[in-house]
Amino acid sequence: MKTILTIIGTAVVGLSIYTPALAADAAAGKKIFMNSCVGCHNKGLNVIAPTKTLKKSDLEKNGMYSVKAIINQVTNGKSPMPAFASQLSSSDIENVAEFVLQQANADWK
Ligand code: HEC
Repeated sequence: MKTILTIIGTAVVGLSIYTPALAADAAAGKKIFMNSCVGCHNKGLNVIAPTKTLKKSDLEKNGMYSVKAIINQVTNGKSPMPAFASQLSSSDIENVAEFVLQQANADWK
């Protein structure tokens, strides 16, 4: 019995490791944003590069209006914006990208 339980337990753990990440979680992304991004991007603005805000119109103009583009920039940085690959996990980055797009669609209100 114990062996069977161990086998089942191992299978469950194995499955959870190999299950693909769930859809991005914007609520979790908000926490990341408040910790890592708000200093430069409060309310979706950009204190360093005022033409590169996180508002929908700028994101579109700059080819950044997609989860993929935002994930890429947050992961690798784009000077003077720092890279976050060493501080945030890939699911953190996906979540924060989702949050940014969600806010852009709501005009950061
Ligand atoms: C030290 C300040 C700083 C921090 C912290 C920072 N950024 Fe940026 N961000 C910038 C700058 C500067 C740019 C413009 C880079 C460029 O020249 O394209 C930028 C650009 C962007 C853009 C593209 C905007 C556009 O219209 O082209 C996105 C998206 C973005 N940042 C998301 C984030 C997210 C998400 C975080 C947190 C994980 C973050 N940034 C943290 C400074 C920062």
